[in-house]
Amino acid sequence: MKRFLKITAWILGILVLIIGALVAWVGFAPAPTYDPPTIAELKVEVTPERVARGKKLASLLCVQCHAGKDGKLSGQQMLDVPKSFGKIYSKNITMHPDKGVGKWTDGEFYTFFRTGLRKDGSFNAIMPKFSHMADEDVYSIIAWMRSDDPKLESSDQESHPHELTLFSKALVRFVFKPYPLPSEPIPLPDTTNQVAWGRYIANGTYGCYSCHSEDFATVNDLEPEKSGGFYGGGNPLLDFDGNLIPSANITPDKETGIGNWTEEQFLTAVKFGQTPNGPLRYPMVPYAILDTAEIKAIWAYLRTVPPLKNEVARAPRE
Ligand code: HEC
Ligand code: HEC
Repeated sequence: MKRFLKITAWILGILVLIIGALVAWVGFAPAPTYDPPTIAELKVEVTPERVARGKKLASLLCVQCHAGKDGKLSGQQMLDVPKSFGKIYSKNITMHPDKGVGKWTDGEFYTFFRTGLRKDGSFNAIMPKFSHMADEDVYSIIAWMRSDDPKLESSDQESHPHELTLFSKALVRFVFKPYPLPSEPIPLPDTTNQVAWGRYIANGTYGCYSCHSEDFATVNDLEPEKSGGFYGGGNPLLDFDGNLIPSANITPDKETGIGNWTEEQFLTAVKFGQTPNGPLRYPMVPYAILDTAEIKAIWAYLRTVPPLKNEVARAPRE
C-alpha cells in the first residue's frame, strides 16, 4: 500500500511538473511563427470604381478597429476586446514606409487578408481573416489602401505590441491557425439570387455570424455554418466602457430569435440601429452605408438559417 502511494505521488508530481512547464512555455515562449507564405504575384489596378467599393467595405470593416488618435488609421488599443484576451492593439496601417504598411506589396496584402500571415511567417491571430470574400472585393480594399483617402496618409504613430493573457496565448498557439489561400478564384455572388447574395454579404464580407454566434473562441471562419451556436447569439461582447453587451439571437426562432420580426423592422434595426425594444448598442453599429437591397438580401438569407432556441440574457436597458 505504502509503495502504491509512493508511486502515485511520483506520478502526480511528474504530472504537475509537466503541466507547470507547459503553462510556463505557453506563457513565456514567443508567439508561434509559420513558414513564410508564398506571396501571390499580384498587381491590383487602382480604378475609381475599386477605390469607391473598397472605401465602402472598409468603412464598416477596417476603420473602426484601426482608427487612431490622429484621425488616421494609425492603430489603437481595442477597448472592446473581452478582458480574458488581455490588451490588444490594432496597428498603424497608413502608408508610412516604416511605421505603417507603405512598403507592403499588393500580394502581401492579399496573402495577409486571406491567411493572416505576413511575409516573414508571423501570424495575425486576432484580426478577422477574409477567407470567403470575393477576389474583386479584396482587390477593391487593396486599391482603397493605395488611394488618397486622408485616413491612409502616412502617420508616424508607433504600433503597440499586444499584452496577451495566458488564455489568449494558448488560443494563439493551439487553436487559431493561419488559413489556407483559396485554391480557386472566388467570384462575386449572383445578386439576382437574394439568398446567395445575402449569405455573401453576411458571411463573406461583414462577418455578422462571428459576433452573432455563441463565442469568438468557437467561430469557424472557414466553414461559418459550423460555428458554435451559428447566429444564435450570446457572444459576450463589450462596449468601450467594458459593459457586457451580448449579441442577439438573429436566427428565425420565433421565441428567442427574430422569427416574429418583419423585414421592415429588420431593415430599421440594421440600417439605423432602432428596434421595437429600443436602440441597439455598440458593438452593433448602424450599417447605414448598406443599400436597402443589400439588407433585404441579408434578411432573405437569415430566414434560411436553422432556427436556434437560445434565450440570450440581453444587456439591461436603462
Ligand atoms: C476587429 C478589429 C480589426 C478589424 C475589423 C481589422 N483589423 Fe487589421 N488589424 C487588427 C489587429 C489587432 C492587428 C494586429 C494583428 C496582430 O499583429 O496580431 C491588425 C493588423 C493589420 C495589418 C497588418 C499590419 C502590420 O503592420 O503588420 C493590416 C495590413 C491590416 N490590419 C489591415 C486591415 C484592413 C484593410 C482591414 C479591413 C478590411 C482591417 N485591418 C480590419 C485589427 C483589426
Ligand atoms: C461587432 C459585433 C457585431 C457585428 C459584426 C454584427 N452585430 Fe448585430 N448585434 C451585435 C450586438 C452586441 C447586438 C445586441 C445589441 C444590444 O443589445 O443593444 C446586435 C444586435 C443585432 C440585431 C437586433 C436583434 C434584436 O433582437 O434586438 C440585429 C437585427 C443584428 N444585430 C443584425 C446584424 C447583421 C445583419 C449584421 C451583419 C451585417 C450584424 N448584426 C453584425 C453585435 C454585432
